[in-house]
Amino acid sequence: MTTDTKPIIVTGATSGIGLALISILKANGYAPILTGRNKSKVEKLSSQHGVAGYVLDVSNQQSIEKVNTQITADHGPIWGLINNAGIWLEGEFATYSPADIKSTINTNMMGTIMMTHAVLPAMLNAGKGSIINVVSTGALYTRKLISVYSASKWAIRGFTGCLEVECAPKGVRVMGFYPGKVASAMYETAGIDRDLNIAMTPDQAANMIVTMLNDEGMLWSHVSGRSIADYV
Ligand SMILES: NC(=O)c1ccc[n+]([C@@H]2O[C@H](COP(=O)([O-])OP(=O)(O)OC[C@H]3O[C@@H](n4cnc5c(N)ncnc54)[C@H](OP(=O)(O)O)[C@@H]3O)[C@@H](O)[C@H]2O)c1
Repeated sequence: MTTDTKPIIVTGATSGIGLALISILKANGYAPILTGRNKSKVEKLSSQHGVAGYVLDVSNQQSIEKVNTQITADHGPIWGLINNAGIWLEGEFATYSPADIKSTINTNMMGTIMMTHAVLPAMLNAGKGSIINVVSTGALYTRKLISVYSASKWAIRGFTGCLEVECAPKGVRVMGFYPGKVASAMYETAGIDRDLNIAMTPDQAANMIVTMLNDEGMLWSHVSGRSIADYV
């Protein structure tokens, strides 16, 4: 058991926004817990950043239950959760494979919902805690070629809004961050070529999330933003 007062689990922390969050949370006095699906990345990055690391696949319910039990045993009650893990899927809906559809929904939607389900009861019990869901501007409007990614994020927009009003009177903040394009590996991992010179940096996104976390007297709803270069 550590003496950390504000342990925060970050999902998908081996890249992009999640990895940027690890340094920025640490610099702000939090005790970030780095989690990710890839064992070697988790081991290397947690040791590089001097933080606790756990292999956690948010699309797998057994992994969620086992790892959250272990994290609580190691760190005590969890103060925060950043549901950040996510994958991109782009193209005409009719061309998607059933496996790609399921994996996008299981990661982006079920991963966020089931991680929240695993940590929320202890937060409600303690009467404090903060959960931030990294959503997307893709949940604020509709456009072609992102039907399933969009479905996964619109679901989380609804989930976040409902939990916000359900949990705030009990002292637990549930908030959504809705970034526009971020210069991360997300598109490349999905095999999509995208101009990321017009995107915000992962650090800019992570700084916004930490700003939302810092003021415990505030509940920031639907915080969104895009790089000014993205308005061309
Ligand atoms: N990039 C954008 O333009 C953009 C815009 C709006 C919202 N977002 C959202 O921002 C979040 C972070 O994305 P990013 O841009 O930082 O992309 P990223 O660099 O690709 O990072 C995504 C992270 O999620 C992890 N991940 C994927 N599937 C996972 C699973 N099943 N279990 C655990 N971890 C998993 C990845 O692990 P690996 O390292 O193993 O791949 C990686 O660490 C996502 O929810 C995304 O939808 C991104």
